[in-house]
Amino acid sequence: MVNSRSLLQRRIRVLGAQAPLFYDTPLHAIRGEGVWLIGADGRRYLDAYNNVPHVGHCHPRVVEAICRQARMLNTHTRYLDETIVRYAERLTATFNPDLSTAMFCCSGSEANELALRIARGCTGGSGILVTDYSYHGNTAAMFEVSTAYTPPAERSTSIRTFPAPDPYRDRTGEDDTALARRYAREVKKQIEKLTTDGVKLAALLVCTAFSSEGLPRSLPGFMAEAIEHVHSAGGLFIADEVQAGFGRFGECMWGYESLGATPDIVTMGKPMGNGHPLAGVVAKRELIENFGRRSMYFNTFGGNPVSCAAGLAVLDVLADERLLEHAQQVGTYLVGALRKLQDRHEAIGDVRGKGLFIGVDLVVDRRTKAPCEEIAKRVVNAMRDRGVLIGRTGPGGNVLKIRPPMPFSQGNADQLVQTLNDVLFNPRLSAD
Ligand SMILES: Cc1ncc(COP(=O)(O)O)c(C=O)c1O
Repeated sequence: MVNSRSLLQRRIRVLGAQAPLFYDTPLHAIRGEGVWLIGADGRRYLDAYNNVPHVGHCHPRVVEAICRQARMLNTHTRYLDETIVRYAERLTATFNPDLSTAMFCCSGSEANELALRIARGCTGGSGILVTDYSYHGNTAAMFEVSTAYTPPAERSTSIRTFPAPDPYRDRTGEDDTALARRYAREVKKQIEKLTTDGVKLAALLVCTAFSSEGLPRSLPGFMAEAIEHVHSAGGLFIADEVQAGFGRFGECMWGYESLGATPDIVTMGKPMGNGHPLAGVVAKRELIENFGRRSMYFNTFGGNPVSCAAGLAVLDVLADERLLEHAQQVGTYLVGALRKLQDRHEAIGDVRGKGLFIGVDLVVDRRTKAPCEEIAKRVVNAMRDRGVLIGRTGPGGNVLKIRPPMPFSQGNADQLVQTLNDVLFNPRLSAD
């Protein structure tokens, strides 16, 4: 077995010291199984973070589907192939009827790139609205709209931002309806500014979980009203489902359904192939036809038969193992247990989430609600050391991000909550 310490040194030598690694003590995983990662140290780590292995690490049905198709044929989307067509049929059937046409790629970044090309091509506009702490991918165009990492000076004038609704920290005392209105007016204001600057709106692009924004509780009515403003200005709504898609919220297959606003274009990736690089765009037929007449799109690897076989197996497992229903039940249980923990730990300012996408907002004190990134960092590392993997998100870096593979059970939830309780009580955690 390769020694973890020497592997880290080799990695730094060949990938550089800046290549990101999770945790102060990086995890050297050698095997995955359901909700578990098995470490080189022989320990089983409970994975409460990874949404890519959506139906579980190395799910045998997905592995078998990939192997079967790889043994038979792997080409690309320029040949007639039944697996590709069947997958596109099965995938589009999960959407509202007018979201009926699919295009495939290899990553969420590519899917968002393609969506922007479609939106700009079809509207004739270039303006893009995103939230003020967004992440949409790693390509040059996507990094520009990933405002969590790209400062305003590095964005072109066609990129405008609006605040993601944050009912927890908003102190105006307004009710949800008034808040939703006010945040929607911010979207309208940015559209008006674009118009004043002579830039026509192409699209509003949001992650339907507002994941990098810190997973704020969604405000009923906000998205519908914002999209009305977008459509009135001739723009399109692109729902980035890379995080929320494929039933993460339990109550629905797509995050936009829980936001109450229907998109013109949907992008997806991460969980789509359970780790196999599969991503895509699903959009209104007329948009894709319009785009196809004026532009060309081909992706060598995107949507190849092996990827589509993986995608089909993911859809089969989601249905056969009733994983949406399961995520809803376990998620409700876990939020309840975390809220009980809130009674014992002052640092927990807020617990929020839907299905198996949950945020625990750690604060300096509950009155000021000031984010406490220091504690969040220590908690994440201390949890890892105790065998439970979670992450952090949000502009303050203080929101514990819990987003496990979908088969995560009630017993797994108990282990997570117990470990978090131990970690928050550990005096070392607050002392050093
Ligand atoms: C909301 C969202 N969109 C797009 C992406 C980019 O996806 P990928 O890393 O597959 O290119 C990510 C990745 O984290 C994401 O969270």
